[in-house]
Amino acid sequence: MTQQGYYQDKICIVTGANSGIGYALSAELLKRGAIVYMAGRSRAKVEDAARTLGAGTGRARPIVVDVSSQPQVQKAIEDTVSQAGRIDLLFNNAGVGGTIPYEKVTLDDWKTIIDTNLWSVIYGVHAAIPIMLKQGSGHIVNTSSVAGIVPLPFQALYATTKFGVTGMTESLRYEFADKGLHFSTICPSNIATPIFNKSIDGTSHGELRIPSDAYPVDKAAEYILDKVAQHRGIILVPPEPEPESYKKYWNENPESEAILLQMARERRAAYEKGGSYF
Ligand SMILES: NC(=O)c1ccc[n+]([C@@H]2O[C@H](COP(=O)([O-])OP(=O)(O)OC[C@H]3O[C@@H](n4cnc5c(N)ncnc54)[C@H](OP(=O)(O)O)[C@@H]3O)[C@@H](O)[C@H]2O)c1
Repeated sequence: MTQQGYYQDKICIVTGANSGIGYALSAELLKRGAIVYMAGRSRAKVEDAARTLGAGTGRARPIVVDVSSQPQVQKAIEDTVSQAGRIDLLFNNAGVGGTIPYEKVTLDDWKTIIDTNLWSVIYGVHAAIPIMLKQGSGHIVNTSSVAGIVPLPFQALYATTKFGVTGMTESLRYEFADKGLHFSTICPSNIATPIFNKSIDGTSHGELRIPSDAYPVDKAAEYILDKVAQHRGIILVPPEPEPESYKKYWNENPESEAILLQMARERRAAYEKGGSYF
């Protein structure tokens, strides 16, 4: 099947669809012929996003769901199946960042980030798998992070949630490989989105400053969907310059040790100077 054909008339749910990677994935899925249920927690934001992308076609459909609420995630997935008859692809993408010095972390921060980044994905997976098994097909795409395969310094909370997402998704990928179900894990490095001025509770603060190396979000979405259509497991984005550098960490390569220690020092210095990690 061509990469284009993979999405044609497919029923997709994308969480966190009103912003950043979720918005770009929704736009690209629509371009590739899918019907996209765009999920967001703010009715105004998600309706606005669906109106912009759908342009009156009826193929971009807003749904209001707070992904940290199990009943809301369950209902959103069941309502979609009742309305559309099936669910072909579920993108558990909504999430928050969390790059902060550990000394500033509270237990409430731990709870918020685990609810938003990890329980949300568990709720989505738990609701979708029985439906997809009954259908005999389906593809679940979970957004992790490069911090979900390499434990980047100053990201202990975030890495905890994202390692959970990567581990869960990869484990399920093998478990259901013979049942017609597919699983992919998106592991982005810096992608240019509004995430960089949001706190763990999702509120925006100050001016949006995006790291200079950040990759354009629309290009990221194109690349991700190409790889998802190829049934890739772990999808690192951007692919360049060193797509599999994480393997150096797992192989105890001294170069990787030096890079992570240096990153820790640079992030501490940046925080002490300006309260941000870059
Ligand atoms: N951008 C990067 O560099 C990068 C790198 C690695 C991983 N990621 C991951 O990529 C995913 C998308 O992030 P992004 O960069 O696109 O950030 P973003 O622009 O801030 O988008 C995050 C989306 O998630 C939604 N969201 C957050 N909490 C939610 C909740 N409880 N219920 C429903 N929706 C919720 C946000 O809704 P509101 O607009 O209402 O807050 C927003 O739509 C996240 O999982 C993030 O961890 C991003």
